[in-house]
Amino acid sequence: MRKLKILIIGSAFGADLHADAYNRIREKIDIVGISGRDLDRVRAFAKRHGFTDYTAYDDYSRAIEECDCDLVDICVPNFLHHDVAIKALERGRDIICEKPLTTTVEEAQDMINTAERLGKRIYYAEDWIFAPAFRKAMEIIESGKVGKPLYVRARECHSGSHSPFAQTIEYCGGGSMIHLGVHPVSYLLAMKNNEWSELVAMTSGGLEGNLVHRTMEGEDWAGVFIRFKDGTFATIEANYITTGGMEDVMDIYCEQGVIHIDLSAGPIRAYSIPGLDYTIEKAEITTGWSTPAVDEKHTLGYAGEIEHFVDCALAGVDAEAGLRGIDGLETMKVISLIYKSACEGIAIKNE
Ligand SMILES: NC(=O)c1ccc[n+]([C@@H]2O[C@H](COP(=O)([O-])OP(=O)(O)OC[C@H]3O[C@@H](n4cnc5c(N)ncnc54)[C@H](O)[C@@H]3O)[C@@H](O)[C@H]2O)c1
Repeated sequence: MRKLKILIIGSAFGADLHADAYNRIREKIDIVGISGRDLDRVRAFAKRHGFTDYTAYDDYSRAIEECDCDLVDICVPNFLHHDVAIKALERGRDIICEKPLTTTVEEAQDMINTAERLGKRIYYAEDWIFAPAFRKAMEIIESGKVGKPLYVRARECHSGSHSPFAQTIEYCGGGSMIHLGVHPVSYLLAMKNNEWSELVAMTSGGLEGNLVHRTMEGEDWAGVFIRFKDGTFATIEANYITTGGMEDVMDIYCEQGVIHIDLSAGPIRAYSIPGLDYTIEKAEITTGWSTPAVDEKHTLGYAGEIEHFVDCALAGVDAEAGLRGIDGLETMKVISLIYKSACEGIAIKNE
């Protein structure tokens, strides 16, 4: 069987998530190149994941130029997505791009145009689409046994990004909405074929206007009401004021039933006086009662998402709805309108 040759750009947190997923499908892939700013960190990353037959690069332009690969996996901070993507597409590679697609709608559109012009594919890494519990919820809805969704409430929240690049709007594109809210926004757009009709949003102001993170330029609290073209209402929330570990939660109220999903609430409760080694992402402490995650990277969807992309790239086809470049673009458009709505205090209609 042909294996997909992959060049990973980035060797930190986001790259770790993807590397874990590649390791589950080693029979389908070869990691042939890894690029980061610091070669020691690149080598440590490769060692952590058991990658051996790869070339290490400390410059992504050179990596893209020199590395003989089929696909470039972009796991660098948001402001670099566009430049890396354009270089990779122009070099004739398909790409996987981490969320958000870019920091601006214009850059996202340019990526889509470039991929279309060159006949290359963008796989947009929205892990929520492959979270098994969310997929089960969709299966229940499709069975018709709860009726049509009337109202969805969804959120991703935690206590703040570990990445220094999340502190400035130039590098990140905004605050908690673009960094965390991007997941529920993409998910709901995928559920509704990108067809929404109206939104109204509110955010904390950034810097001194924030609730907790007063040196961060972007907002640390954001909420939006959205109405979709089929009449479904939704509220989406994203914040950096949530202590106690990451929350990925969705409640779906339907005509004849309701579905509650909490990706962070696993089946195990543990109590530890000295503290466990790890419980869940972004948990500040691990002592006392906790709900240690069971295979977190699978639960959050990274494993399924990456396998789907690899299968699609090997077959030369697009990813499923919600995971294509155009879905990343639609998400960017909605997020930019969420910021416009919050900034100007207006409701926005999508005629
Ligand atoms: N889907 C998810 O839930 C999820 C989770 C975490 C991160 N992400 C995304 O992954 C991407 C990376 O985030 P992260 O948390 O790993 O960030 P990070 O700040 O922890 O790491 C950034 C990586 O990019 C490299 N880098 C930075 N500047 C560079 C440059 N000029 N040239 C080459 N490499 C450079 C760094 O060396 C490092 O390896 C972001 O777009 C983020 O939104 C997604």
